[in-house]
Amino acid sequence: MKKLLRALVLFVSFPIFAQQGGMWVPSLLKGMNEKEMKSLGMKMSVADIYDVNTSSLKDAVPQFNGGCTAEVISSKGLLLTNHHCGYGEIQSHSTVEHDYLQDGFWAMSLEEELPNPDLEVTFIVSIHDVTKEILNGVDAITNEAEKKTAVQKNINDLQKSYKREDWQSVMIRTFFEGNQYMLFVTESFEDIRLVGAPPSSIGKFGSDTDNWVWPRHTGDFSLFRIYADKNNRPAKYSKDNVPYTPKHFLPVSINGVEQNDFTMVYGYPGRTQEYLPSFAVEQIVNDLNPAKIEIRDKALKVADGFMRQDQAIKIQYASKFASIANYWKKWIGESQGLKKSNAVGIKKSFEQEFLDRAKKQNKMSEYGNLLPQFEKIYKDITPYALARDYFQEIVLRNNELLSVGFRLYQLENAFNKSGEQAFNDRKENLIKGLEALYKDYNKDVDHGIFNETVKLYGTKAPANLTPALIKDKDYIALGNDIYSKSALTSYDKLKKLMNGKAADVVKNMQKDPGYVLAKSLAANYFDNVAPSYDKMALELESLQRTYMKAQLELFPDARIFPDANSTLRVTYGKVNGYQPSDAVTYNHVTYLDGVIEKYVPGDYEFDVPQKLIDLYNTKDFGPYADKNGKLPVNFIATNHTTGGNSGSPAIDAHGNLIGLNFDRVWEGTMSDIHYDPAICRNIMVDARYILFVIDKYAGAKHLIDEMKIVKPKETKKAKR
Ligand code: ARG
Ligand code: ASP
Repeated sequence: MKKLLRALVLFVSFPIFAQQGGMWVPSLLKGMNEKEMKSLGMKMSVADIYDVNTSSLKDAVPQFNGGCTAEVISSKGLLLTNHHCGYGEIQSHSTVEHDYLQDGFWAMSLEEELPNPDLEVTFIVSIHDVTKEILNGVDAITNEAEKKTAVQKNINDLQKSYKREDWQSVMIRTFFEGNQYMLFVTESFEDIRLVGAPPSSIGKFGSDTDNWVWPRHTGDFSLFRIYADKNNRPAKYSKDNVPYTPKHFLPVSINGVEQNDFTMVYGYPGRTQEYLPSFAVEQIVNDLNPAKIEIRDKALKVADGFMRQDQAIKIQYASKFASIANYWKKWIGESQGLKKSNAVGIKKSFEQEFLDRAKKQNKMSEYGNLLPQFEKIYKDITPYALARDYFQEIVLRNNELLSVGFRLYQLENAFNKSGEQAFNDRKENLIKGLEALYKDYNKDVDHGIFNETVKLYGTKAPANLTPALIKDKDYIALGNDIYSKSALTSYDKLKKLMNGKAADVVKNMQKDPGYVLAKSLAANYFDNVAPSYDKMALELESLQRTYMKAQLELFPDARIFPDANSTLRVTYGKVNGYQPSDAVTYNHVTYLDGVIEKYVPGDYEFDVPQKLIDLYNTKDFGPYADKNGKLPVNFIATNHTTGGNSGSPAIDAHGNLIGLNFDRVWEGTMSDIHYDPAICRNIMVDARYILFVIDKYAGAKHLIDEMKIVKPKETKKAKR
């Protein structure tokens, strides 16, 4: 009875309960979150998750290279992240002779670990609310642009003056769209070496066909190691550096997971937009997503055709292709999910409720105009937003010649603005920076992509915002002309073009048809699109800030969490399957049996290495099988994650690593905009599969020995 009463009280005070998602700030978990987490089965205290004075879980969870998450899993700085997060590094060490993408890589000693000059990981030392300091003197300013400048100045000042150690940095981010500011003291390590990676046939098994899809069977992990100087401080690469001793590392549990088990995911979610008005969601579904999907669809088809025929091109374009394909597919799933879940309708009824509450609380003068204003600006901005997407997707993202041309355009601007010296400095950097691009450049692939995407640009982007040079052309002829004459198609030719005095170089650039086109597209964007777009975007930013403030005020009992902003967050939930459609039910776990079921010999997405097949046939799973003798591969739970959470640790009730987050399920990819607890699930690699691959497949037992393995007998499972 007492228990029932307690459950009832909990239910009443959190009517929407824990399955509602949310990405929470780790320093603010006390109270509502802690209660929820404990009610879901967590056995730790929130101080075990985040604490400034003693070591806590946060000390084991750095951001990995800006866009992913990783976790330290040994006292010697061993770092676990996704295969797709380390993909660029694995690729950079690969050649046709030593193809670590295809065959995997395992350092059998510290000496064999491979340095990565541009890779860094960043730990959070402490988190502080600095809203007062940042908004000091800002409220009085009415002009939105001036307001922004004042906020930025306060940020810069505080960033400079805030007390920190020499090797630390200070970063300030906004939460609740300008209503709150948090300061992070951080530590970045720059000597990060590659330790191990499975072959893509394990680490990327299922590739793009299975990406964003459950049931999944991917061993999406790779291993790195953090090196520090002799004082255990961050340092640039040096062969004298030593493995980093972390303040905390995660023990790895081979206990396994069961339906309804508590899990939390700790990491750096990048960006969500959970509090948009319905008009914004309509714009995404009806206008922006379809345009971007169509552009990438064309680019990917061209690249795929070449990659399937030429191993060298496959290596060169592997990483670029994967990242373009990733969001292409995500947008398709997102649009479908938003439609199917009636996100716009749900937003519209929320907006009605919003107005009712504003009326009841006499807030119409403050908030009554928000929605009509949103509606008008979203309508006005749509052609500009579309033109911007065409420009960004085609010039900056999918076509390499145009993206190089764009950088030359910035160089020419630097000359016009700041003269010869500025030009020369920038030119040196540019030439150095482009070496990596041209290492993986293939003119024919790029030419094919040009023909397809520029044609879309010229025929489908809003006509009054598109330059004449690409409107209604013979696109094949245009492509042939540019790719036969432009110096931007090879590194050597480009360097030659860049040779000489600034004024001469700029003059010569105007004769290059590739440059001329890129320049005209860029100038058109900056003259005709960006000014109006930026002006309206700033108005939307201001409306969104007020709308957020209003939601917090009018819905004081709602579980409102701040949108993701690439800062450290905690999300939690339960291991659970779901029902994607009528009469279909998905289990929460997949097994190695499923890998073998999907096996297509020689296929570039579904091939399976012979050794894995042998291990499967002999059931040689070591201590990693579950109690029925099956080897778990992936599992899903109700944690609310997004891009950036890849590589995040999935942690059990006691603080042990039980899995590695890497993806979401197809029906739930709309969770960045509209989280539906019934179908949104995150996908993790089971820790047992990771250990199995390291131990049994790769024979890298020394790495297992370095970890602290938590075995079934050692933690007594709490009764549920
Ligand atoms: N969809 C996952 C994420 O957004 C995994 C992407 C990597 N895998 C791939 N096949 N491209 O990053
Ligand atoms: N795969 C994503 C990442 O790379 C995670 C996600 O979007 O669910 O961060």
